Amino acid sequence: MMKKLALITIIFFTVFAFTGCVSGPDYQVLDGDFEKNDLSHWTLVSGNPTISDEIYFDGSRKYMQEGESFLTTKESTESLVIRSNHFVLSGMGYITFLLSGNSNSQNTQLSIHLSSTDELIESAYHMTYDGDLFIDNFVRIVWDLSVYLDTELYIQISDTDANYINVDGIDTFIENDYELQRYQTNVLERMGFMTDDLLMSAEYYLNLHKQYIDSDTRYSYHLMGEMGWINDPNGLVYFEDEYHVFYQHNPYASIWGPMHWGHAKSDDLIRWEYLPIAVAPIVNHAGGGAAFSGSAIEIGGDLYIMYTENWQGYQYQVISKSEDGITFEKINEGNSVINEDDLPFYANPVDFRDPKILKKGDTYYSVIGSRQINDYGQVLLFSSDNLIDWEYVGPVIQGSVNTLYTLGKMFECPDLFELDGSDVLIMSPQEIPGHRNTHGTVYVVGDMNYQTGMLENWDLSQIKEIDYGFDFYAPQTMIDSEGRRIMIAWMQSWNRSPMTGQYGWAGALTLPREIHIDSEGQLIQYPVSEIENYRENFESKVIDVLGNQDSLYTGNVIDIELSFKPVETESSGITVFADSEGNGTHIYYKEGYVYLDRTDNMGGRHPGDFYNITKAPVVLQEDGTLTLRILLDQFSVEVFINNGEQAITSTIYQSDSTDKIFLFSESETEFTLSKWDLIID
Ligand code: FRU
Repeated sequence: MMKKLALITIIFFTVFAFTGCVSGPDYQVLDGDFEKNDLSHWTLVSGNPTISDEIYFDGSRKYMQEGESFLTTKESTESLVIRSNHFVLSGMGYITFLLSGNSNSQNTQLSIHLSSTDELIESAYHMTYDGDLFIDNFVRIVWDLSVYLDTELYIQISDTDANYINVDGIDTFIENDYELQRYQTNVLERMGFMTDDLLMSAEYYLNLHKQYIDSDTRYSYHLMGEMGWINDPNGLVYFEDEYHVFYQHNPYASIWGPMHWGHAKSDDLIRWEYLPIAVAPIVNHAGGGAAFSGSAIEIGGDLYIMYTENWQGYQYQVISKSEDGITFEKINEGNSVINEDDLPFYANPVDFRDPKILKKGDTYYSVIGSRQINDYGQVLLFSSDNLIDWEYVGPVIQGSVNTLYTLGKMFECPDLFELDGSDVLIMSPQEIPGHRNTHGTVYVVGDMNYQTGMLENWDLSQIKEIDYGFDFYAPQTMIDSEGRRIMIAWMQSWNRSPMTGQYGWAGALTLPREIHIDSEGQLIQYPVSEIENYRENFESKVIDVLGNQDSLYTGNVIDIELSFKPVETESSGITVFADSEGNGTHIYYKEGYVYLDRTDNMGGRHPGDFYNITKAPVVLQEDGTLTLRILLDQFSVEVFINNGEQAITSTIYQSDSTDKIFLFSESETEFTLSKWDLIID
C-alpha cells in the first residue's frame, strides 16, 4: 500500500558553472526559482539535483510544497553540493525555507555560509524525519540571522550520503513583522496539519521539540507542559492509586491556540510523569473544534472525562472514556451529550463550558459555566442516569447587575463539592470591574438543593476571593483515597504575556493545596504535606531586624516559614528574588493586610502599581503573631498566611542575579525564620 503515485517531472541540469557567482546586493533567494524550473541562480559543485512535483504516497495531497515544484536530491547518484548565488542579508535579517527528506543525517542538509570565508553559520537537516511517517512532508524553518544583517551570504544544499533532501519556499528577504509572523504561523500550521490525526501530530511535534527546552528554565516542582502553552487544570482525578492531572495545552507554541488536553500523573503530587496528550481538537470537513476545559470521574474502574468542544462559536459538552487512563474515545459516537438544545431560554449558547462532573447516590450531575442572555454569568446544573441523556435541573447561582463588582460577567470553570459538612461552589468569574486581574476566582459556601439545582443559604458578603495574587485562575478540585480535597489552579492570568515564552513554554499549575472549610465558613488552603519530603539543607534563625537586614540566604527553589509580631502601622516582612541591594519581591504586613510587591522583579513589564502590588486582608493571631509560609520556584511565589487563611500567588520575572533573601522592618521586630531548599531530582 505504500506504492507511490508519484507524478515526477525530472529535469536534469547539465550546465553549471563550478565557481561561485555574485549577483550583487539586489539579489535575494526567493523560492530558488524552483517553480520556474530554473536553477541558473545556483552553482552546482557536484551531483545531480532535480526539480520534482511529487504528491503524497496515498495520492491524496502534496508533500505540502509551495506551488508545485521543489528541489530534491533524490535522483542524484553521486555526492551533491549546490550553492545559491551570493546575497546580502537584508530586511529583518531572517531566512526561511521548507525542508523535508528521508533522513535525519547531517550529511544531508541545508546550510548558510559567509561568502567571504565560506564559514558555516547555520545548518539544518530534516530533523522531523521519523521512519516512514512524515518523511516527505515539508516543515518550515525560520532562522533569526539578524546578527549577519548586511553581510554577504550563500545557501548550500548538500547530500553526501545515500539519503535525500527536499527544499522549497526559500525567502532570504523578510521585510517586516507581518511577513515574519506569517512564516512563523506557517511553521505551526505545518506541524499541526502533518496528518489528520491531530493527536498524533501533537505527540510527534512534542517528541521532536521538547529536547530544546532547557531544563534550567523550567519550574522545579510545579507541573507545566513538556513545552508550549498550558492554562486551566482539567480532569483532576485520583485513579488507580495515582493522581492524574490534565491541562489545557497548545503544544505548538508558547501562546494560547488549538486546545488539547495535556496529561501527567504522579503518586505524590510533586513529581509528575508526562503521559501522551489525551485529547486533540476534533477535525472534520469544516474545520477544527478545540477541546476546552472539563473534568474526570472514575466509574467502575474506567476513567471518563467530560469537557467542552468549542466549534465555530458554539460550545457543547462531550464525554470520552478510557479503560487504561491514557487513551480516550467518545462514548456517544462523537456527538455531544449536552448542547444548546438542552439549555434554558435564558442561557447564551455561545458561552457554555467547563463541565465538572460529580455523582450523588446513583445520579450524575454536572455543573457548567454559562452566560445569561442579559450578559451576566451563571452556573447551570444538569443531571443524568446514564451519562448520555442529560436534563437541565436549574441555575446553581446567577449573577446580576447587583453582583457585578463581585462576580463580573461570565462564570468559568465551576466546581461543586461537599467539604467539612458544607456545600462549596468555586468558580472563575470574568470581567469584574476594577479587578487587578480582570478575572477573579471565588468560593461560596451554602446548601445545595439538587432538586431545584440551586445553592441556598448564602449572601453576597460571603463570596470571597480564593487567592489574592496575580496568577491564580480556574482552580479545580479532586478527592483522593485519604479523603483529602485537593485544589490546583492555573498559575497565570489571562491578558498578560507570560514571562517564560522566550524559553519555549508558558504557564504552569499551582502547587496542589489541601483545602478545608473552617467553623466560620472560611476556606483554608495549605500546600500538600508531600512537598515537605523534598526539603533539604534546613537552616533557621531567630533575628532582630530594624531597617534592611543583609542578605540572609540565597536560592530560588525554597520553602520558607516565617513568623513575627508586626507593629500595626509599620511595614515588616521579607524580600525574595532579590538582588544584592535588596530589590526584589517584598512580602510584608502593614495595617491589616499582607502585601506582595513584585515591582522590582518585572523586568520592565507592566510598569505601575496596579499590576505589581496586591494585598490580602489578614487578622493577626490572638497573640499578635503573623505566620507566612512562602514557596519559591524559579519564577513563582506562593504565600500562605496564618496557616492557610489567605493565599497570594504570583509569577515574577527573575534572573540568576535575583536569588537573595532579606528581612526588613520599619520598627525593631523579632523574626523566626526557617528555610529549606526544595530538591526534586
Ligand atoms: C478558563 C478558560 C475556560 C476554557 C478554557 C480555554 O481559563 O477560558 O473557560 O474552557 O480556558 O482554554
